[in-house]
Amino acid sequence: MTNFSALQVAEHRSGADEIKTLIYSDQNDSCISCHNMGEMLRGFTDNKGTNFSFVSHYGKERIDYPAQGTNAYCNKCHNNVSAVFPFNDPANRTISNHSTNYASPACADCHASGRIHNSTLAKPVLLLPNSTYCTTCHGQEGSASMKNKDKHNGNVDCTQCHLNSSRSIHPVRYLKEDGSTWSVSKANSVNCTNCHQEKSTNFTTAPIIPDPIKHSSNISNGTIWGIFWTSESGSCFYCHNDTRHNATALGKLMH
Ligand code: HEC
Ligand code: HEC
Ligand code: HEC
Ligand code: HEC
Ligand code: HEC
Ligand code: HEC
Ligand code: HEC
Repeated sequence: MTNFSALQVAEHRSGADEIKTLIYSDQNDSCISCHNMGEMLRGFTDNKGTNFSFVSHYGKERIDYPAQGTNAYCNKCHNNVSAVFPFNDPANRTISNHSTNYASPACADCHASGRIHNSTLAKPVLLLPNSTYCTTCHGQEGSASMKNKDKHNGNVDCTQCHLNSSRSIHPVRYLKEDGSTWSVSKANSVNCTNCHQEKSTNFTTAPIIPDPIKHSSNISNGTIWGIFWTSESGSCFYCHNDTRHNATALGKLMH
């Protein structure tokens, strides 16, 4: 509908294509559920109207909102425990950004930019397991922390080590050494030995090598002739490199 060149409300309503709000069978009820909130109305005392007339006659232009395209604009509702609008899922009031340890990309880098009803806004579809979505950004040149990330051995997906559900795109996490807990801290995250020496239930296709490694049956073999490695996990890095993000996991011995 484009009657009278009226502003089109594509996203952020019950029946939207991508960004749906609380479901009402009547779309008008969806509009009213937000537009009748006190902060959406001009002050008035002639309290004779109906829901529709409040919205139409007393609607306030929210020129007080942060500029579109900024995180602050989205966070006015999505990172604000006192946001008054009707949420299906209370967790949508406290969305963190993608990255915790590094400067994060902006909401607009993944959701596009616009005011809340603009058709430009998007909700990306993220089916797990997944790597293609991630490598659009992480598979390229960039800062040292960003660039050239690949699936481990061409087969283990980014999400298997970084997301415990599709929601944990914000914030992304690290799978811990026990193979089942997650946190935003990098400390004690999965290393080679956790998957290749212990049978991890989530990574059953990982080939298992002996524990301790049999390069020499002496556990401290790396230190016998000098400083080569001082721990079992250090030994894997010594011969293979940190190949957690390499399509060819055998690493440097191959070249
Ligand atoms: C989740 C709450 C919410 C829902 C649902 C909602 N709106 Fe909005 N709407 C807002 C907010 C907040 C603004 C102001 C945003 C801004 O200025 O960037 C707004 C802005 C508007 C504007 C632009 C007003 C201006 O100042 O230019 C129109 C028109 C509008 N809404 C109509 C509708 C209609 C029609 C529906 C139902 C189909 C609807 N809205 C559903 C919250 C909502
Ligand atoms: C005026 C408040 C408001 C603003 C501003 C706002 N949103 Fe929302 N948004 C909502 C509400 C309310 C919902 C419904 C969530 C629910 O039902 O749990 C929603 C839903 C969403 C959803 C879908 C949630 C789901 O579970 O499918 C996405 C994605 C989203 N918003 C992204 C954004 C982005 C990106 C911005 C900034 C451009 C933004 N929103 C700005 C209030 C807002
Ligand atoms: C790196 C990309 C990325 C960034 C940056 C990002 N999002 Fe998202 N967002 C997504 C993806 C992908 C989904 C869909 C997740 C799913 O399917 O559950 C999503 C879903 C959402 C949802 C729906 C609830 C959910 O968790 O599924 C909301 C609300 C939302 N984002 C808001 C924001 C806000 C606000 C920001 C900025 C503070 C932001 N997003 C930054 C990629 C991103
Ligand atoms: C829109 C681009 C974009 C997409 C898509 C994206 N990322 Fe990121 N990600 C970034 C940026 C930018 C950073 C910050 C890194 C930096 O500045 O060096 C980051 C940071 C990270 C970090 C480090 C977080 C921390 O706080 O330590 C991890 C892990 C990560 N991303 C994994 C993923 C995974 C897994 C996916 C796919 C599900 C994904 N990213 C999708 C842009 C993106
Ligand atoms: C086998 C598990 C595993 C897979 C698969 C994996 N990662 Fe990681 N990733 C890690 C671990 C563990 C760290 C933390 C490294 C550390 O402690 O230094 C990490 C660190 C990162 C970082 C932070 C910067 C850095 O280099 O430390 C980014 C960004 C990242 N991964 C993105 C990705 C992306 C994108 C993919 C898919 C292409 C992916 N990862 C696949 C385990 C994995
Ligand atoms: C989170 C679990 C996990 C971690 C951590 C991990 N791997 Fe793997 N790795 C796997 C899985 C699963 C496969 C099998 C993938 C496949 O089917 O191709 C694999 C494959 C391999 C292969 C290929 C084996 C072959 O026969 O093709 C090598 C070599 C390897 N990993 C070495 C390493 C090294 C070295 C590290 C540490 C830098 C490491 N892996 C960390 C899960 C892991
Ligand atoms: C002294 C060097 C060296 C060290 C130390 C070492 N590797 Fe290897 N690794 C190799 C070589 C060489 C191969 C290839 C053997 C072959 O092709 O038959 C290999 C093969 C593998 C494979 C593939 C096995 C298979 O059955 O397909 C895995 C997995 C692996 N290493 C993991 C590890 C892990 C985990 C560690 C640390 C605990 C480690 N490696 C320490 C040199 C080493």
